[in-house]
Amino acid sequence: MPVIAVIGAQWGDEGKGHIVDLLANRSRLVIRYGGGNNAGHTVVNEQGTFKLHLLPSGIFDPHTVNIIGSGVVIDPAVLLGELNELQSRNIDTSRLFISERAHVIMPYHVMEDKLQEQARGDSKIGTTGRGIGPAYSDKMDRVGIRMGDLLHEQTLLERLRAVLEEKNRLLTKLYGVKPLSLHDTYLRFLEYGRQLADYVTNTHPIIHRALQRDVPVLLEGAQGVLLDVDHGTYPYVTSSPPGAAGACQGAGIGPTHLNSVIGVYKAYTTRVGEGPFPTEVQGPVADALRQIGKPWAEVGTTTGRARRVGWFDAVMARYAAQINGIDTVAITKLDVLDTLPEIKICVGYKLHDAELDYPPTTVAVLSQVEPIYEEMPGWQTATSGARRFEDLPEAAQAYVARLCQLVGARLGLISIGPERDQIIVVSEVL
Ligand code: GDP
Ligand code: IMO
Ligand code: MG
Repeated sequence: MPVIAVIGAQWGDEGKGHIVDLLANRSRLVIRYGGGNNAGHTVVNEQGTFKLHLLPSGIFDPHTVNIIGSGVVIDPAVLLGELNELQSRNIDTSRLFISERAHVIMPYHVMEDKLQEQARGDSKIGTTGRGIGPAYSDKMDRVGIRMGDLLHEQTLLERLRAVLEEKNRLLTKLYGVKPLSLHDTYLRFLEYGRQLADYVTNTHPIIHRALQRDVPVLLEGAQGVLLDVDHGTYPYVTSSPPGAAGACQGAGIGPTHLNSVIGVYKAYTTRVGEGPFPTEVQGPVADALRQIGKPWAEVGTTTGRARRVGWFDAVMARYAAQINGIDTVAITKLDVLDTLPEIKICVGYKLHDAELDYPPTTVAVLSQVEPIYEEMPGWQTATSGARRFEDLPEAAQAYVARLCQLVGARLGLISIGPERDQIIVVSEVL
């Protein structure tokens, strides 16, 4: 039975939550493997509309076990808020497990994130301000606090005492802000641990047994691979590896178990925060893509910031496929293009006199490239009622086929609306 990674293949917000929500009822285990509450995954199904930040999008399926994996960084207050919200809406959260190895986002991480961004001034990254970068830095620096530590009074106190001394020096001496109290922080996080104790466990045996029993497993991505800390548009990236390698690492599954990597691509491109975006557009096309006023408008789920919008960038899209072994493509938000008379696809970059078919490594050079566009006719017909590939207007079929040809992977799914039944399964993916 398959183990499938569903990864964002652009700069995030591709509609991963929506795709995982559909595929969850065909799987038995969904593992969110990375990132933290910088993510915002909107799921619309018969139970309602939900905005998830940490919970895996398989939480709505009554037969699916959900795991927040070791590679995730968790803000316990946000997680508890999300659990309460779902429980108040009668969603059963008892099939959730949280890895003891997942790191905790502490209050000093959130403070550091915001203070660092302020200090960066004009060269800010545009982070979500959720403490993600500092939490991952501390994990790598081996001074992180893990979810399992919240369940052990003595360990928590010792680790917190050691790290807080240094953090308070940083907060007071470098940033001139008030220090955090060891006593209050300790008691607060001990209480979080108490409230989450039923969920926090060693998730390895659960995952290992699922693999042994050959049950279908989904690895749910957060962010997008162009935000990858190694392969993205550094330094305008997040602090984790959101792709297929990160899926294996964050879930604790060997790469040989992976049967397929589904790359989720919007039919155009969006980006939140700073950083180069070669196909970005302004004006009437941008207004059409933004869909302001619609429930799926291009406004950040987590921060409420307007997303930047642009044409599909096949140079970036193919690169994303190459570095992640994407073999299957899910195209989302095709319906957003319904009104456009012409649609552009960036098929190459012009840099001075040269043509590039891959992204340059530095943002300084990437900011100088000019997109080479190919134009395709629009369909100017509503697609949201389509349920089979054949129902789509020919021009829409041709557009999607061209995207997959440029990406170099087979077409799996097409989404033409936010509802669960608005996904066309072109070829079976699970
Ligand atoms: P994620 O972070 O990758 O899960 O994506 P987000 O949830 O942040 O953003 C995707 C937005 O588009 C959400 O509001 C979804 O409900 C919506 N959405 C997903 N697929 C489609 C689609 O095919 N058509 C439309 N109109 N909206 C969609
Ligand atoms: P989902 O899972 C879109 C972006 C931020 C910023 C950069 C670094 O919903 O696709 P961070 O707070 O991670 O240090 O910010 O990464 N970013 C996202 N953009 N969707 C996301 O998640 C994102 N998570 C982080 O906007 O540019
Ligand atoms: Mg999102």
